Amino acid sequence: MKIFLDTANPSEVRKFVDLGWVDGITTNPSLIASSGRNLLEVIAEFAQIVPGPISAEVTATDWKGMVAEGRKLAKISKQVTVKVPLTFDGLRACSLLSKEDTMVNVTLCFSANQALLAAKSGATFISPFVGRLDDVSQHGMKLVEDICRIYANYPSIHTQVLVASIRHHLHVAEAALLGADVATIPVKILEQMLKHPLTDSGLASFLSDWKGTGQSIL
Ligand code: E4P
Repeated sequence: MKIFLDTANPSEVRKFVDLGWVDGITTNPSLIASSGRNLLEVIAEFAQIVPGPISAEVTATDWKGMVAEGRKLAKISKQVTVKVPLTFDGLRACSLLSKEDTMVNVTLCFSANQALLAAKSGATFISPFVGRLDDVSQHGMKLVEDICRIYANYPSIHTQVLVASIRHHLHVAEAALLGADVATIPVKILEQMLKHPLTDSGLASFLSDWKGTGQSIL
């Protein structure tokens, strides 16, 4: 499964890119707002750091505006994936932009039928929001499972399932178990994925026993 980082802060991703952990980036208007940065500059900066797709979200709500914004964003780099909302106009913009060979990430997906329509509109990625579904007592991962099963039924569908709104590290493992193509996660959760208390206590006891031997490797 590919891992995208869900962030608008280029400086926090560098060390993970060097390790080969980061396959792409997703941003959204809320992340850009909290970063205090300019969207176009942030996207251009990510394109210098990360090898894969970088999602940049349009803010127009009519398809003509979305296409115009999408074309401008796509000019920044071939890596730019234009993010459009799952509305009629969003899917119309998706259809047009994908025919121009621009990658499109259809965001704010909350049902399997929405995901089916996004695939038919040529979406490169569909983003089911698992955390926001869990927040309203619906089963977010069940939606991911349904979309993966539906897409697998039709070999002509090439849309990738990009699990979004991930709130904890268990969501990541569940997404991988379901065969999702991508999980987009905040840096904090990537760091949690690495951690296990038994790793820490096991290492502490190995080091303490090693110290007792009085040996050194170098
Ligand atoms: C990513 O593409 C989404 O915009 C993001 O994962 C949403 O996460 P949130 O529901 O935690 O805001």
